[in-house]
Amino acid sequence: MKIVQISDTHLTAHGGRTQENFERVVDHVNNHLRPDLVVHSGDIVIIHPDDAADRAHARTLMAEFTAPVLVVPGNHDIGEPGAAPWAGIGVTDERVAAFESVWGTGHWRHDAGGWTVLGLNSELFGSGLGREAEQWAWIENTVADLPATARVIVFLHKPIWQVADEPTDHNLDIGESRARLLDLLGTVSLAAVGSGHLHCYRQTRRGETLEVWAPATAFVAGDGDTFAGPLHQLGIVEYDCADGTVRAGYRSVPGLDDVSATGVPEVIAAITALTDSPVG
Ligand SMILES: [Fe+2]
Ligand SMILES: [Fe+2]
Repeated sequence: MKIVQISDTHLTAHGGRTQENFERVVDHVNNHLRPDLVVHSGDIVIIHPDDAADRAHARTLMAEFTAPVLVVPGNHDIGEPGAAPWAGIGVTDERVAAFESVWGTGHWRHDAGGWTVLGLNSELFGSGLGREAEQWAWIENTVADLPATARVIVFLHKPIWQVADEPTDHNLDIGESRARLLDLLGTVSLAAVGSGHLHCYRQTRRGETLEVWAPATAFVAGDGDTFAGPLHQLGIVEYDCADGTVRAGYRSVPGLDDVSATGVPEVIAAITALTDSPVG
């Protein structure tokens, strides 16, 4: 089984650079990589989760993939938890409901080729919403249903393991929910975890588990939030799953220029619009 993970497409109904990149990704995936499944690990839309036009446009674009596509939400799709969400855009029931009305639930299970692929909504962890409790119950029931020998791959927007030296209150990873989630996933054979959000690529071993940070397709991390070590290039990740082993590899996509957010006029416009009418 082959899975392609794409992430952080940051699409807008205004089209522009991120959409041009997306079209190049679709062409490369459909005609060259030909996976069995495409997983989008969030930040589907450009900036603001309340922009219904961006979401509807992105849904139309995603249908261009030949393979089935499963998505999990990012902070720009539904807001984020914690005391200081970016630009004050917190995760709310209304925002999650708007996402679900287009994409379906943010957590899911997909069984194929002897593998179990789980999608999780990272922005619910620590949110205190009723939906967070529902997702925990779903995870508990799902892992209880799996034999200890099941080979599992998890996708979610923010990394499970701590990203920065100091805890960052949900802005970079899932924070204090990590221990509970790893405890639950400890009852299955966790082969790999693929996340997005950081706009750079890295592979790390976490015991028996492969941790993968997927690169963005829209823009690379800017100077202020660049980590030393990872690959700061746009691209996608290919997972080859065979004989109980998963191998993940970065794949470049022809035609993508590695610009940061400030090099994308549509991102600048969307952030300027936020400043003009701040979210309460
Ligand atoms: Fe992003
Ligand atoms: Fe993000």
